Amino acid sequence: MPTLITGANRGIGLSLARAFAQTGETLFATARHPNGPALAHAAREFPNLHPLALDVTDDHSARIALAEVSARTHALDVLINNAAIFPGDGTERLENLDLNWFAEAVEVNVAGVARVTRTFLPLLRAGSQPRIINISSGAGSISTKEDFDDYPYAVSKAGLNMLTRAMAAEFAPEDIIVTALSPGWVRTEMGGPNAPLTPEESARSLHATITRLTPADTGRFYGRDGASADYAW
Ligand SMILES: NC(=O)c1ccc[n+]([C@@H]2O[C@H](COP(=O)([O-])OP(=O)(O)OC[C@H]3O[C@@H](n4cnc5c(N)ncnc54)[C@H](OP(=O)(O)O)[C@@H]3O)[C@@H](O)[C@H]2O)c1
Repeated sequence: MPTLITGANRGIGLSLARAFAQTGETLFATARHPNGPALAHAAREFPNLHPLALDVTDDHSARIALAEVSARTHALDVLINNAAIFPGDGTERLENLDLNWFAEAVEVNVAGVARVTRTFLPLLRAGSQPRIINISSGAGSISTKEDFDDYPYAVSKAGLNMLTRAMAAEFAPEDIIVTALSPGWVRTEMGGPNAPLTPEESARSLHATITRLTPADTGRFYGRDGASADYAW
């Protein structure tokens, strides 16, 4: 399953890259700065893991990444849109918000996903049971929202959920699966030190879920274990 992951230099993305590389399949671990020690270490451990530069907000960067991936493979089976930002600290009330944070969050967490997905569509179309995984969040659930935490991030992840549904509808005739998965609350820079899950635990279950998705799962929003009851739009 040749796979490409965004934001793979740290956090959940790095652990996902390692989980996929462990199977021996070709793995493109993309990041804004792919030459850092963590990805270099992973690439030494797994010769099938290829670090690549990709800033999800930059068309030029995406085109170069496509050329580099295309030089190694004619097809991708899995695209994992993992890269995201979380502006502010999540506790700001409406009157204290920096309103620029909305645009910044949407640029990475929504438009970035659309940009990367359309860039790699030709390779996905050549893949075997291709699947596009959007790493979402319970924070993006509109129907269960009862607090005022995480304004810009939550709005962007709700937008990502809508993007997931729309892409699922567009690509269903081509049997391309598009699914939103939440990784759980994970100890990363974004999740903070009190989160119950390690990135490895989250990535292990995400990997298992991603590998068993079928066309019946397109347009769905699941937890890391693939349980539909866990997350509501
Ligand atoms: N941690 C949690 O508890 C939790 C819960 C729910 C959902 N999630 C979701 O899980 C995913 C991974 O989160 P995480 O906890 O691993 O976060 P993280 O540790 O903050 O890592 C975020 C990753 O996104 C990358 N990124 C940011 N802007 C980018 C850009 N313009 N282009 C390319 N890469 C960019 C970062 O790269 P740089 O190093 O270059 O900044 C980093 O690799 C995100 O989609 C997040 O929303 C996390």
